[in-house]
Amino acid sequence: MKLNWSLMDNNIIQDDMDVLINFLKGTPRLTQGEQVAAFEEEWSKWLGVKYSVFVNSGASANFITMHVLRACGIAGKIIVPTLAWISDIASVLSAGFDPVFVDINPETLGMDTGQVIDKLDEQTKAVFLTHVQGFNAIPNWTLLGMLNERKVILLEDCCESYGATFNVNEGKIGTFGLISNFSFYYAHHMSTIEGGMICTDNQGIYNIARMLRSHGMSREAGKDAPIRTNLEEMYKDSLTPDFIFGYPSFNFRNTEIGAVIGRNQLKRLDENNAKRVHNFDVFLNCIDSSKYKTDFAVEGSCNYAFPLILKEADVAFRDRLELAMKDANVEFRRGSSGGGNQLRQPYLSNIEWNPEDYPNVEHVHFFGYYIGNYPTLTDDRIMKLCEFLNSVE
Ligand SMILES: Cc1ncc(COP(=O)(O)O)c(C=O)c1O
Repeated sequence: MKLNWSLMDNNIIQDDMDVLINFLKGTPRLTQGEQVAAFEEEWSKWLGVKYSVFVNSGASANFITMHVLRACGIAGKIIVPTLAWISDIASVLSAGFDPVFVDINPETLGMDTGQVIDKLDEQTKAVFLTHVQGFNAIPNWTLLGMLNERKVILLEDCCESYGATFNVNEGKIGTFGLISNFSFYYAHHMSTIEGGMICTDNQGIYNIARMLRSHGMSREAGKDAPIRTNLEEMYKDSLTPDFIFGYPSFNFRNTEIGAVIGRNQLKRLDENNAKRVHNFDVFLNCIDSSKYKTDFAVEGSCNYAFPLILKEADVAFRDRLELAMKDANVEFRRGSSGGGNQLRQPYLSNIEWNPEDYPNVEHVHFFGYYIGNYPTLTDDRIMKLCEFLNSVE
């Protein structure tokens, strides 16, 4: 039996193409311009923040976020999850911070709160949490209050979870951290082909992020931004204001094409996300809870994937399941987000760690998968897939 289940389906639709083709008819300039500015404004409104900076990927959003902190003179440790995408950790390393790893909470796949608290010390400058696969990773107000009291910055990677909320009506995730990041890669809740967003309520951070997006150039900051006027004043005798490179950065800009698609996609994001929430419920009702994990913290979640995590650490069952899914043409990713435990990756091979300190991420790493959950799925198809997964012995 072929189920032909892809990780994502039809994320950029004909209507997006039609809108884009129509836009192109006017032979517009395609590098970052009015469409990008409009998309940023609409995204900020949708999310509930003051400022957004559209970039060419979620990884670039992570990178710029860490370098903004660096540009603000911050140095020290940053607490990061073991279940994350490589750019969540690579960005920390590239900006010269020391990553401190914590295990995950198996109900949210986000950071384990106890370990975060245990690992906070005088050197901790930020907690960079990843909201994994549509779940909200913010555990409670107590942790937020504790971080605030200790002046530890909260940063949110929402690349996999936009539309999810903390405490349902308290607000969208991505509005709690000083800076939050989003990705519009094809596999996520919406797509601009490639793309990402950096969001914040802080005008100073916004101006630095804009500069870092464009080679570190001061003229990218707002006209009256102190960072810009100070640099122009300081270098008035030796540099033209057109070319003052305040930070050693690169080009992370996106294009008008991405913004036109993004603006059109944003119109149907809430509707698509409601369908994903419904689908997730169908998955949870149909999947066999004696074989697969179902006790997730679903309140406020909005999942573009279904985390298929084995109840038991059973290698033989796992291998039979993988074979069966391949046979039925069900696309999957083992290890869940980012391939599982980042500490197992070669780029971190210089870090010493003990698997016993990270049992939850280790289980997901070896016995967890994700499969696609997208708006075009019907209840009937989800039920058939669950029947098939339940039948694997
Ligand atoms: C949590 C997380 N952060 C960052 C990224 C990077 O996003 P992009 O692929 O747009 O660079 C991803 C990628 O899938 C991700 O899952």
